[in-house]
Amino acid sequence: MRVLGIETSCDDTGVALYDSGAGLLAHRLFSQTALHIDYGGVVPELASRDHIRKALPLIRTIMEEAKTHPAQINGIAYTAGPGLAGALLVGAALGRSLAYAWKVPAVAIHHMEGHLLSPMLEPDPPSFPFTALLVSGGHTLLADVQALGRYTILGESVDDAVGEAFDKTAKLLGLGYPGGPAIARAAQGGNPERFKFPRPMTERRKTHGAHPGLDFSFSGLKTAVVTTVKNQHLTPQLIADIAASFEEAAVAVLAIKCEWALEQTGSKRLVAAGGVSANLKLRERLKQLSEKLGVRVYFPRPEFSTDNGAMIAYAGYLRLATGQHEPLTFGARARWRIEEIGAVS
Ligand code: KG4
Ligand code: ZN
Repeated sequence: MRVLGIETSCDDTGVALYDSGAGLLAHRLFSQTALHIDYGGVVPELASRDHIRKALPLIRTIMEEAKTHPAQINGIAYTAGPGLAGALLVGAALGRSLAYAWKVPAVAIHHMEGHLLSPMLEPDPPSFPFTALLVSGGHTLLADVQALGRYTILGESVDDAVGEAFDKTAKLLGLGYPGGPAIARAAQGGNPERFKFPRPMTERRKTHGAHPGLDFSFSGLKTAVVTTVKNQHLTPQLIADIAASFEEAAVAVLAIKCEWALEQTGSKRLVAAGGVSANLKLRERLKQLSEKLGVRVYFPRPEFSTDNGAMIAYAGYLRLATGQHEPLTFGARARWRIEEIGAVS
């Protein structure tokens, strides 16, 4: 089975062709960073219009690269949510239209499910069940993953997502957008112990409530950076030290919550995915944790930590292989909880 994947939920146009026998055949990503950089963040309307311009030419390119004729495509997967409504609609309309024209099924994919499954594109992939840490610009969550579509959220952010905290901190420090890679770069020359930033909700492990101790909060960390930056002359060294101390605090929080989640689930497999999982310090810390606990940790290749079409094509293949597909009508869901996706039969 050969599946075309289309990802347009935010500011990256990602497309890919996945083949059940040969694996990933081709993938392309067009990043809109240059388009939004002057605004310090993503401008939804500009994002939608650029997806319209880029998606079809990119699809043509990968079809040529993979020497694939439309008649060889067995299904189309598109990101249907969560994300920016207009941007999602571009991918959904395109995916659904191509499926109609090519007379193949189309399947709507949840963006975070794409991230969740992305390590399965690597050699020696994880198998179900596993515990997952999903960290992106819009989400921070821990999930107990039993099978395809059977996800239980163990904890999630009560305020900002961790990627958002990286982005806001980078903006405060004048490091630009997107913030995650900029903070990581600046942190390399900094002292992570210069500032002891708060590690919210890690003081004590709660034993009651919906998500005992596994929820996250990142707005306090961001406020601590605001307070530190106030009335300071930002020298390159100070910026580096704040970036390093911030990164250290964020990574420490994620690592301790992973440890608690693994204790709770008893799982021997940890998957970390989503944009922030590209962070090398986080990868290093989770590897140390996994050695300590005798657990295996799985990541996507750094390129597939952030948004991409390959994870959507792969998730689409898994779902199409079970017979799932959408009716001719289509829609996008800007808000959509991963627990609501539903299992496949
Ligand atoms: O998954 P993703 O590409 O898009 C969303 O689904 O949101 O994640 C983007 C987020 C941004 O907040 C970005 O700053 C963060 O991932 N990010 C990083 C790194 N690379 C991207 N955060 C920390 N370190 C990185 N190396
Ligand atoms: Zn994403």
